[in-house]
This record gives sequence, C-alpha cells and structure tokens, in this order.
Amino acid sequence: MQLQNNRYTLGGVDMLSLIDEFGAPLYVYDAGTIQRQYTRLDTAFQGIQHQIKYACKALTNINVLKVIKDCGAGLDTVSVNELKIGIQAGFQASDIFFTPNNTSFEEVKEAIALGAQLNLDNMPMLEKLGKEFGGSIPVCIRINPHIMAGGNEKISTGHINSKFGISITQLDELEHLVKAHKLDVSGLHMHTGSEIVDTDIFLKGAQILLEAGRRFPSIRFFDFGGGFKVPYQAGDKQTNVEELGEKLSALCHSEMKVRGTSFYACFEPGKYLVSESGFLLTKVNVLKKTPATTFAGIDSGLNHLLRPMFYKAHHDITNVSNPSGERRTYSVAGYICETDNFAWEREGIAEIREGDILAFHNAGAYGIMMASNYNSRPRPAEVLIKNGKAHLIRRRETLEDLLATQIELA
Ligand SMILES: Cc1ncc(COP(=O)(O)O)c(C=O)c1O
Repeated sequence: MQLQNNRYTLGGVDMLSLIDEFGAPLYVYDAGTIQRQYTRLDTAFQGIQHQIKYACKALTNINVLKVIKDCGAGLDTVSVNELKIGIQAGFQASDIFFTPNNTSFEEVKEAIALGAQLNLDNMPMLEKLGKEFGGSIPVCIRINPHIMAGGNEKISTGHINSKFGISITQLDELEHLVKAHKLDVSGLHMHTGSEIVDTDIFLKGAQILLEAGRRFPSIRFFDFGGGFKVPYQAGDKQTNVEELGEKLSALCHSEMKVRGTSFYACFEPGKYLVSESGFLLTKVNVLKKTPATTFAGIDSGLNHLLRPMFYKAHHDITNVSNPSGERRTYSVAGYICETDNFAWEREGIAEIREGDILAFHNAGAYGIMMASNYNSRPRPAEVLIKNGKAHLIRRRETLEDLLATQIELA
C-alpha cells in the first residue's frame, strides 16, 4: 500500500475507489506482492534444487492460486476439496501434496485417485496404505521432531504434545512398518510451526529430519514445511530467508555426501506468500467514547478476521479516508455480539470519522479462509489487483446464500 498525493493506492489502484465500486467490507489482494515474495523465497533457496509448494489453506481463491502457479509453484493441500480447487486452478495433481491430519482413509484414497503426492502423518494410515496398495503409491511421511517452534502455542506443531506427525522417538516402529509393507518412502516432511523467526530452530528441525532420513534409502526429497515469518508491524522480526537458504543448502549438500545420493528440498510457505498482499477494508459505523477508551465500531468483526481474537494477532490499521489526519488513539471493535476487539488503545491512527474506511494489513493469509457466517452476517467480497486493474474474484454473500443449505420443515 502506498501513499501518493494524499491517497492510498494498492498495486496502482486507489483504495477508496475500490469501496465505491465493490462496497465494504472488502478483502483486497495485490498480485504483485505475491510475485515479489515468491521470487525472494525462490532466490533464497537457489543453493539447492527445490520446489515451493504454496500452503493454500492460507488463501484458496482460484485466481490467487493461478498467480502462484504462474510463479512456478506447486501446492500443499490438507483436504480433498483444496486438492480439487488446485486442479481447477490448473495445477497438475502430481505437483500437489496432500498433507491430511486425522482425515479418513476414504479421503486419502480419493487423493490417490486424483493423482496427488501423499504426505501421511500416522502409522495406522500408513499400514492401511501398505495393505491396500503395497509399495505402488509413493508416500512422504510427516515426522514430528519434538522441537518448540513458532509464534505461539496454537501455531506450534512440532512439539511432543502436538497431534501432527509421527514422533521422532517412534522411528524404529516406523522403519519396521515401512519394511513390512515395502512402502515407497519418497520423502520425509516436517512443519514445526508458523512464524518461525529463529533460523537455528528451523535448522535444528532440518538436521533431525535429515538424520531420520538415513533409515529410508528410497528418499527423493525432504520437505521442510513452511512457517517463514513476515512482519506484522514496524520493528517486527521476520525470518531471514536468505541466511536460512544458505545454511540449509549447506546442510543438505553435506547430507547428500553422507547418503551418497542427491535429493531435492520442498518448502510450504503460506503466510510468506500471501499475508502482506492482502487488506481487509472496513467502514466505521459508530464512534463511541466511554470512560475507558474511544471505540471505532466497524462493519466487520471476528466473523471476517478472526486472527486478532483467536491468536491475539496484531494487524496494523490505517485510516485510508484521512491520510493526513491528526494521529490519535482508538480501540477498534467489530459488530459481532462477542468482544471482538481488533485493537485496544491503538496509538497513531489518523483521526477517525464516521464513514471512514479502515484498512487492516496482513489480511491475505488466514483472513477470509477463517471467516464465518456468525451472527448471520455474509462474508465479504474479494478483489484481486493485477496489472494495475481491480478484478472481483468472489462476490459478497447474500442472505439467500446463508439460507441455501437450510431445509425448512413443513
Ligand atoms: C503442513 C503445513 N505446511 C505449511 C503451512 C503453512 O504455514 P505458514 O502459513 O506459517 O507458512 C501449514 C500451516 O498451518 C501447515 O500446516
């Protein structure tokens, strides 16, 4: 988002004009930002042969997927529906990982039939695969390396209490199972958390994964997951992907010498590719002074952007309508009948007036995807800015949409 002649623009498009055209609240994504993030990550890992598999749970709009496909990425999916959306966006099924957790074997078989690359994270499922398919379906195995990584407990997935992956302490059992069913282990996988700033933690997990891989000679790749942190506010730390790329490449090359065979690396960024590309634009309905604070009440809430309430996540807020307004302190709250404060006593917001448009930053990842119809509120429309033009890529929901799946008894 840029300030030009006292107007905010995104990808060359005036942000207030988006509200005039598409209404509020509105999710907006900038394709150029996604492309730049992809190039930066791709370049950072140039020291090793690699594939970037976008973790599309972050944002699955087909048009966004196409932008990412054109960058040269594959996909990481966690449900058969994500897999089908990926195929519809033009990805080859063979370029799509299917990384389910606690799904049924029927869903796994559906993914096999569609031609996705399997990435399984529990032994009962591997056993079922072996019994039904033997070694005919290559399978990557998700390992839990027992490390604490990530921005907070809810988004840490590689520790001992996590439901994800096969524990690193169960490798003997896993090896036995693999041999018994002659499984074709194509790779080993880890994803230890989201918002990992510390490259050493990442490398520690990678080292554990590489060592575990010595038990499986058929391995063609190691998938090191996603979790690269982007800044959410000024002064925020971010993953130094260039440093990580250099160190991880060196680690992988020395492991290739130990193994005596080469392999490639995979990465599954979600936030890194799409977080900063997205903004949620909302309108101020009410300004309310209380003894504690001044609330700006907006036409959105936890039903549209859950991260501040679910993860206590910070999202920068810009008053797009009043770029040169005096900086003041506000609490920004939603219209849902729960306490859905987006910010409490946030300093430095340009003076807010009724009807102003507030932009929430970093809304590209896990924004619309975690949205709901709570309070029977429709989800916002989505717009993609590409080559200097704004395109509607999802229409706003209506009351009819909310009622469409209800069955009224006679
Ligand atoms: C298996 C897997 N890979 C990749 C990701 C992407 O994480 P991030 O958006 O932090 O990069 C996730 C996120 O939950 C995940 O579960």
